Amino acid sequence: MDAIKLLKQQHDEVEEAFGKMDKARDARRKQALFEEIADALAVHAAIEENHFYPASKSAGTEGLLRESVEEHLSVKRLIADAMKAGPGDPQFAAKVAVLQEQVLEHAKEEEKELFPKVRKLLSKEQLEDLGTAMEEMADELKEAGQPRMQVPGETAAPASL
Ligand SMILES: [Fe+2]
Repeated sequence: MDAIKLLKQQHDEVEEAFGKMDKARDARRKQALFEEIADALAVHAAIEENHFYPASKSAGTEGLLRESVEEHLSVKRLIADAMKAGPGDPQFAAKVAVLQEQVLEHAKEEEKELFPKVRKLLSKEQLEDLGTAMEEMADELKEAGQPRMQVPGETAAPASL
């Protein structure tokens, strides 16, 4: 699959899961949806940082990519913090709300600024090959189970490009 299409699809899925979480009233349902979101974001960040960003690096994109890895770092810190707190914590809903705001803003910026540049930078074939490598990594992480468990160990510094 085209790498950009894959990432947009993941953005939409995460946005939908946040929407479900907004409506959930039951604490166990909230916890399950949060775990789903945290797993999806962990996979999304890993395939971007390991494949998409390095392949997209150019003079015209480097600034955006550096911002992106900082945004990922901030998102990872919020995920780790919310995981530690758990839904029983009175700040949990607020932590998830801030996470949602940051993730949606990050996704919007990528779609509006980064992706159009990358589409010009890489050929259709390169984007297909990149998408395939990203899907493979995503499948491996999901099969290994609970990809969110990697996140607390990635909160010290941004991913290198
Ligand atoms: Fe991202």
